[in-house]
Amino acid sequence: MELKNIEKIYEENKPNEVTALKNISAKFEKGKFYAIMGRSGAGKTTLINILGLMDYPTKGKYILNGRSIENLNSKELAKIRNENIGFVFQSYYLDNLLTAKENVILPSLINKKYDKMSRQKRAIDLLKKLDIEERQNHYPNQLSGGESQRVAIARALMNDPDKIIADEPTGNLDTKNEIRIFELLKKISKEGKRVIVVSHNELIKKYADEVLYLEDGELDCHEK
Ligand SMILES: Nc1ncnc2c1ncn2[C@@H]1O[C@H](COP(=O)(O)OP(=O)(O)OP(=O)(O)O)[C@@H](O)[C@H]1O
Ligand SMILES: [Mg+2]
Repeated sequence: MELKNIEKIYEENKPNEVTALKNISAKFEKGKFYAIMGRSGAGKTTLINILGLMDYPTKGKYILNGRSIENLNSKELAKIRNENIGFVFQSYYLDNLLTAKENVILPSLINKKYDKMSRQKRAIDLLKKLDIEERQNHYPNQLSGGESQRVAIARALMNDPDKIIADEPTGNLDTKNEIRIFELLKKISKEGKRVIVVSHNELIKKYADEVLYLEDGELDCHEK
């Protein structure tokens, strides 16, 4: 995963134009845990939305799995999003008509990675790892913010993606659960995956191999 001179302009050439990212170049390697930090409005969500193929840069190149994303067709992009990238949104986006367990299973229904039995088993194992197994049959409106957040993390891990991208995945959690999630993500990165996490919490620095600071859309510094 490599970004080369990425720029993102929202509402280009309109009165409310915002340059959210300026000249960002960065490489994300296998087996590493990256933290993205910076003030509110610095461009963190914009950056990881581009990395997660949720949005596109205005300028610059994004090389993914050795190919520039502009050369991938919509079918290839959809397959990568489903099978290779586990994305945790800042606002969870759980399906309110599905239980916690069904939400976790959902991404696995559109590929053939797991059969019915192993889907169930994997979903329950993930809910156990995140300590919300006993809430598996609850609907999102019956879950607390932190529980919803953990269901969203389990769902992102369901297809065993090699890239995990999370936007403040611990924003609603107590310190004990937050540490549990950073430890889980660290372990996953050590298994050879790329993990990229936006956080406002300094605690993440203990787990990250690299910390990227954004300030006003620019990569301000890169630690470790
Ligand atoms: N869809 C959009 N249209 C126009 N401007 C946007 C849009 N999304 C974000 N912005 C602007 O781009 C800038 C970067 O926003 P972004 O959401 O990336 O910040 P952030 O670092 O994630 O902030 P936070 O910590 O509050 O989540 C902000 O000034 C924001 O107002
Ligand atoms: Mg954000």
